[in-house]
Amino acid sequence: MLCFNGFALRRATEGDLQALLDLHAMAVHSQAIGYYTSHQIETYLRNIGTIDTAIIAAGTYFVVLSGEELVGSGGWSPTGSCLGTADSPLTDNVSTPAVAAMRAYFVNPRHARRGIARTLLDHAETDARQAGFAAFELQATLNAVPFYVRHGYQPIEAVNLDVGDCPPVPSIKMRKVSGAVH
Ligand SMILES: CC(C)(COP(=O)(O)OP(=O)(O)OC[C@H]1O[C@@H](n2cnc3c(N)ncnc32)[C@H](O)[C@@H]1OP(=O)(O)O)[C@@H](O)C(=O)NCCC(=O)NCCS
Repeated sequence: MLCFNGFALRRATEGDLQALLDLHAMAVHSQAIGYYTSHQIETYLRNIGTIDTAIIAAGTYFVVLSGEELVGSGGWSPTGSCLGTADSPLTDNVSTPAVAAMRAYFVNPRHARRGIARTLLDHAETDARQAGFAAFELQATLNAVPFYVRHGYQPIEAVNLDVGDCPPVPSIKMRKVSGAVH
């Protein structure tokens, strides 16, 4: 358990699943509005989802707690998309085997801008680095791009996600080479 700024970071467990789903929906509703329509947000949450239980089982998804309350989450995996679940129709966003995918960063808006996502991302990058990965990729929703840029990720290409019965959801594929200044 890693403690910082009054918060605690630990590995996610299957018992966290409902709290994670609630947190993710709250974070998306709060932060993505203004970048996407309500219809796009609801369709994305319904059809694509935010949790890949495989990375919880793999031990590479992490949560941040404020007391008993789960207030942040994020992790990594050798393959997979930052957005969506393992069996989603989204394509794999990792271009080479040496590149790890950073996955599903969400923070309770009541605790925004207190370094929770930064700490999760640092932790996941260190974990992936120790597992032999030299670079990291992710697919950022437009609202989250400034956060990732701040942490050394550079845009690679714009990707329009087909999430179902609504206009495509614009996102940005981003990459960071391990050791890049952030
Ligand atoms: C993106 C998100 C995870 C950031 O979480 P957070 O804990 O508030 O971020 P941090 O406090 O660690 O931010 C660290 C730095 O990143 C940058 N940053 C974070 N959020 C930002 C924002 N909305 N706009 C501009 N810069 C931002 C800032 O430089 C910030 O440092 P500062 O607060 O000292 O200026 C959070 O806003 C969120 O859950 N968004 C909705 C879900 C989502 O879109 N997730 C990403 C899917 S790809």
